[in-house]
Amino acid sequence: MKTYNIGIIAGDGIGPEVTNEAMKVLRAVMQNGDFDFNFVEYPYSGAYYLKTKELVPDKVIDEWKTLDAVFLGAIGHPAVEVGLVERSVILGLRFGLDLYINLRPIRLYAENLCPLKAKTPADIDFAVVRENTEGEYTQIGGILKKGSPDEVATSTSIYTRVGIERAVRYAFELARSRASANKKLGHLTLVDKANAIRPQEIWTRVFAEIGKEYPDVKQDHAYVDAFAMLMIQKPEYYDTIVTTNLYGDILTDLGSMLQGGIGIAASANLHPGKTSMFEPIHGSAPDIAGKGVACPLAAIMAVGMMLDYLGEKNAAQQIESSVEHLLASGTISHADARSGISTTHMGDMVIEQIRKSNG
Ligand code: IPM
Ligand code: MG
Repeated sequence: MKTYNIGIIAGDGIGPEVTNEAMKVLRAVMQNGDFDFNFVEYPYSGAYYLKTKELVPDKVIDEWKTLDAVFLGAIGHPAVEVGLVERSVILGLRFGLDLYINLRPIRLYAENLCPLKAKTPADIDFAVVRENTEGEYTQIGGILKKGSPDEVATSTSIYTRVGIERAVRYAFELARSRASANKKLGHLTLVDKANAIRPQEIWTRVFAEIGKEYPDVKQDHAYVDAFAMLMIQKPEYYDTIVTTNLYGDILTDLGSMLQGGIGIAASANLHPGKTSMFEPIHGSAPDIAGKGVACPLAAIMAVGMMLDYLGEKNAAQQIESSVEHLLASGTISHADARSGISTTHMGDMVIEQIRKSNG
């Protein structure tokens, strides 16, 4: 029997609440599989920082590299300097473990969840491949003469050939595998802003070069402003998207609305073949924390992505199809805190559905 070592960072706000449900569901699918988990819990969060002034030490990042995967609930505390702990924990994981892909599927499971008129699950099913270690996120820059009238702020965007190549290649492979799974043609769209930010033209060239190796995948391009419009106007046209770190960040929050709510959107931060990290794309939501109303589906789906990555395809499938079934049957009206269903009850509903599906 395989035992996986999983780091758990429940984090702040609704993080621990949704993590509990996600782990409950993980234990439930484990009973049907022949694998086991060893959980290693880490306290890093805004709340922990307020108590201890401790951020993630380098030796812990090295320790994470020895695990099979890391699960993260949510990070962010209103009483801590903006972004301090997010950069330490979330970017610490992404940069420290070189998790160069942020895979964010945008999939609608039930028509009633979609705010767009007359769009069905067949229309909204695409995957965003967000480059996860470069762009504006490298923290290159700073503020000079802070607070003075002469103040200067700089932020440098980094795009390396190696970084773009590995993201683009991953996206082409994904487009190809989605095509064979769905028995249709592969389709990959590059999203950038190379008209106004001319150095992004490196993306155009690398995309075209690598694209030659994938003649079976239809290739096109959209500028990010137009894409924000197009993904609302004709989401059915898109299948796989590859884009920069920041554009991927923004577009996937928008995409979560097409899916029916930020409470269903999950993500995988990957370094294929190495320790990777899985998290809901939502934040710590301090406004609803502690009330037991947060939607745990995104965290549960992130566990599904983790199982899929670890090779436990059957267990991953049980989670996705159970959540899909619950949403499609109309039992859950909103994929966020408006559902009227408590966090723990929604976790129980998923587990019950998994048991039913397993007869
Ligand atoms: C996300 C979040 C993070 C990001 C923040 C919390 C640093 O918005 O995972 O999408 O910008 O990547
Ligand atoms: Mg974001």
